[in-house]
Amino acid sequence: MKELLLVGIGAGDPDYITMQALKALRRADVIFLLDKGPAKHKLNALRREICTRYLDGHTPRFAEGLQPERERDAADYRASVDELNRDKQAVFKQLIDEQMADGEVAAFMVWGDPSLYDSSIRIVEAIAAARGDLRFEVIPGITSLQALTARHRVPLNSIGRAVEITTGRLLAEGWPQGVDSVAVMLDAKDSYLRFVGQGLHIYWGAYVGTADEILIAGPLDEVAERIAATRAQARERNGWIMDSYLLRKAESADN
Ligand SMILES: C[S@@+](CC[C@H](N)C(=O)[O-])C[C@H]1O[C@@H](n2cnc3c(N)ncnc32)[C@H](O)[C@@H]1O
Repeated sequence: MKELLLVGIGAGDPDYITMQALKALRRADVIFLLDKGPAKHKLNALRREICTRYLDGHTPRFAEGLQPERERDAADYRASVDELNRDKQAVFKQLIDEQMADGEVAAFMVWGDPSLYDSSIRIVEAIAAARGDLRFEVIPGITSLQALTARHRVPLNSIGRAVEITTGRLLAEGWPQGVDSVAVMLDAKDSYLRFVGQGLHIYWGAYVGTADEILIAGPLDEVAERIAATRAQARERNGWIMDSYLLRKAESADN
């Protein structure tokens, strides 16, 4: 039997790691790394830093899988994500088959929490269902949204109200029904700009919890252009950007 641990490591600061995650990582014989694009180096450096700082001398080996890139701006978004996940599944499977022995424990250090805009659980579940020699466990982590709200010192929801977690792509289609707070991730196109003039408040953060962290908050009408400019500069400077934001109808901005 092989054992796979999907370990949420928090979304930025190495200190976001939980005791449960550390206990899981200390059980691992091998750590699988799977990141892509220009952020790969920094994110994997953070993973290695967590291991160096906190594993009490336990030194699992690292095995890196080559993660395929999704076609950006693909006309059929869902089809391109499905295709990416099929490729990812092949990479995961190869790591499990070739980089760990029977009886060993492997860990994936998942950015933030595995439940939030992350395909690891779905992929590993599909692999485990197709074979009898693999069991897996999920260890929760601090999500980028928790990091964002903590740094801005605001609650995610207003009193007694719902919050919607969505993507920039979906927000661009319009304000979600029935909510006054919207948390937005994976926004490549500054979708908040279309809501200027509607009395919203924004809490925006890039690279939250890291040394590069940038935070801007205020009435959207006043700070939208500054966020757009700061975002463009940061992406230019670092070669990539990782940002999210909370948009709130102004009357509930302080709740
Ligand atoms: C593929 S999702 C992964 C989310 C992750 N599983 C989590 O729990 O936060 C990546 C998106 O998360 C957000 N994100 C992740 N880390 C972040 C950080 N440190 N600061 C701001 N946003 C972050 C960004 O919106 C980014 O596009």
